[in-house]
Amino acid sequence: MSDALSVIVDGGLDDALALAVLCGSSIPIDQVIATEGSVCRSVTALATKRWLVTLGVSVPVLLGADRGIRSNYPEERDPFHGVDAFGGTVSALVDASDPEDHWQDLKGTVLCTGALTVVAQALRRHQPVDDIVWMGGAVASGGNMTAAAEFNAWMDPPAADEVLTSGVPVRMVPLDITNRFVWGDSQIAAIGDAASSGRLLAEAIGSVHRREGWFVPHDAVAAVALLEPQLFSWSTRSVRCESAGEPTAGATIVDRRGPDRPSAVSVADDVDVPQVNERILAAVRRLS
Ligand code: RIB
Ligand code: CA
Repeated sequence: MSDALSVIVDGGLDDALALAVLCGSSIPIDQVIATEGSVCRSVTALATKRWLVTLGVSVPVLLGADRGIRSNYPEERDPFHGVDAFGGTVSALVDASDPEDHWQDLKGTVLCTGALTVVAQALRRHQPVDDIVWMGGAVASGGNMTAAAEFNAWMDPPAADEVLTSGVPVRMVPLDITNRFVWGDSQIAAIGDAASSGRLLAEAIGSVHRREGWFVPHDAVAAVALLEPQLFSWSTRSVRCESAGEPTAGATIVDRRGPDRPSAVSVADDVDVPQVNERILAAVRRLS
């Protein structure tokens, strides 16, 4: 990990948990970029800013990619994490003004827990991105947005393909890994008991859990992969993201033929689940 860290989020409660993990680990974050996800960019940006202020962390929250990444998306929109990007409880967070400034530069390390649009734009502008940790894609598990595509890949397949084939080192934390972390009442309660900000997040996560019967902390797992990659095993793989096919758009194609092949993409293929869960909880315990 280089000295500069940018985090790209898309308004999920697991994005909020990922930020909590980084803040609880005292990792300096240079900027947080809010992008289109299951809610639009402005909703992501405001909820993210309020969450960071609630955590007592002063970090610029900037506007990233807007709707139009997916031209047909508004009709299909399912605000999985709540229409306010905080499980319907964003009013419980410390108030903040709407972020208005747009992102300009990416450099150093990027943790991307949403679509890779901004990263692709930065690479096109030859900005000095050293390495990327991305929660996204799937190897063999199939998708969660469509039968073929994981949500963050599906949001902008050409950008995903551009980044994954750019030669810039990427650590990809796919759905196959994050889906091993299906949280129930006990894990959510532990987050709630860990800190007063943890209680606010646990209440929001609880609304998803009550509706769905489960909650997966995808992006928090990726945050731990950034901080402690030794808790995962990694294989070097050539990875593409399908853009053209209608039923397959957003599918990530991971070449698993034989031994590692020359590629800049390391794909997580195993993980120490109890240790990663413990790291998430320990980071939240260090918050106020
Ligand atoms: O597929 C899971 C990913 O989609 C997570 O990053 C979640 O927050 C959503 O962006
Ligand atoms: Ca996300």
